[in-house]
Amino acid sequence: MATSYKAFPLNCSIQKRPSHVSDKSPHFNLPPFPAFKPLKKILPGVPLQIDVQKIITDTAAKLLEAFVDSFFEFVDQPLLPSQSNFAPVEELGEAILVTSIQGRIPDDFPEGVYIRNGPNPLFGGLKSTNSIFGRSSHIWVEGEGMLHAIYFKRSSEGRWKVLYNNKHVETDTYKIEKQLSKPSFLPAIEGDSLAILSAYLLNWLRFGKANKYISNTNVFEHSGKFYSVAENHIPQEIDIFTLKTLRNWDVNGAWDRPFTSHPKKAPDTGELVTLGVAATKPFAVAGIISADGEKLVRKVDLQLNRSTLCHDIGVTKRYNVIMDFPLTIDLNRVLRGGQLIKYNKEEYARIGILPRYGDANSIKWFEVEPNCTFHIINSFEDGHEVVVRGCRSLDSLIPGPVLSLKEYEWLSRCYEWRLNMHTGEVKEKDICGANVVYMDFPVINGNFIGVRNRYAYTQVVDPIASSTQGSQRAT
Ligand SMILES: [Fe+2]
Repeated sequence: MATSYKAFPLNCSIQKRPSHVSDKSPHFNLPPFPAFKPLKKILPGVPLQIDVQKIITDTAAKLLEAFVDSFFEFVDQPLLPSQSNFAPVEELGEAILVTSIQGRIPDDFPEGVYIRNGPNPLFGGLKSTNSIFGRSSHIWVEGEGMLHAIYFKRSSEGRWKVLYNNKHVETDTYKIEKQLSKPSFLPAIEGDSLAILSAYLLNWLRFGKANKYISNTNVFEHSGKFYSVAENHIPQEIDIFTLKTLRNWDVNGAWDRPFTSHPKKAPDTGELVTLGVAATKPFAVAGIISADGEKLVRKVDLQLNRSTLCHDIGVTKRYNVIMDFPLTIDLNRVLRGGQLIKYNKEEYARIGILPRYGDANSIKWFEVEPNCTFHIINSFEDGHEVVVRGCRSLDSLIPGPVLSLKEYEWLSRCYEWRLNMHTGEVKEKDICGANVVYMDFPVINGNFIGVRNRYAYTQVVDPIASSTQGSQRAT
């Protein structure tokens, strides 16, 4: 889920095809044509070199660009006055001094930086496209990632100095659209089936990628380095002082697929446990990255038979926790005229307990009541049981629920599963008690990830305001 907040002390599917970003002119990379070789010195005594392949590639790219310009119209998605918080803001360029503070910063408050990551669409807002293939639209989480940082610094006299800065995460695709100075990637998640398929194809032909890399969901730390991430690509290392994007992080070339927005640091070892889900096989791959961030220790295909939109991964001292729920990405469903991303409450849901360095055969699966859980609060071992707590809903916010003022199945509540590793028994229950309190975006003290914790902090959701402000799809 988009929007994440993190506080850090001051001392917080890669495509093999090359991007055209590094070119000074916007040439587009297409598959090479090996039959064509540069022609050299075809006239006696006249040094001539014609790169036929480049001419063909450039011409094809221009034709594709002309096709998109002629047949696709980008239109702004409307924002209601009540949705102004979804509107993008401009980059500041440099940090500014915060001069108005309500209340008082406690004396024992630590110096540090507080970072928020969230979608901040380029070119004025989210877009839809109309074309001969129908309409497709960005969904509400598809704005380009922007980091917002508040720096807390104290003078030797004890006075607080607070600075604010923001900056887009400069992914490869962000650079492409900035260079072209116009929205260029066609929305490829929600809309008419034919429009989705044509967007996939045209994005791929023009840019070598099916969709944009948004990097708008989380910021995490590993081995003293800080990364911005969204789960459709690998993370980007960022400088938390300048907010500049430093590089893509592929663990020295070892991780070549999407990366969960919520990787977890394993208790005791400090290894980073991650997960990469994709629309095509292998649908889900788990990874263990060394504590120093230099080496991929383990990479295992979980051999799922569907692409479940798994947004999080849990850890305990000995296990990794895999959420296989019926919110799926299905290209075949699009070919049949359906949605690319869909929650189907009739399908199975299960939680897999994977030994830290195990493989697909060593996963112990527990069937649970069908649900959608984007965020794990925490997981830990309690005797023979693995306890998993998360924010569970009975419908999905992605790509957008059917609006209803009466039923809030798409909003999540705090929930617990107890999975007995000896007997296979599952005990599950709501932990909100009788009170209907909707919560999400949980966070706990990082020192307790994977071990028994006492406190968790979540955002409380107002169901009426969330239903009426219109951020979700009304169908
Ligand atoms: Fe999230």
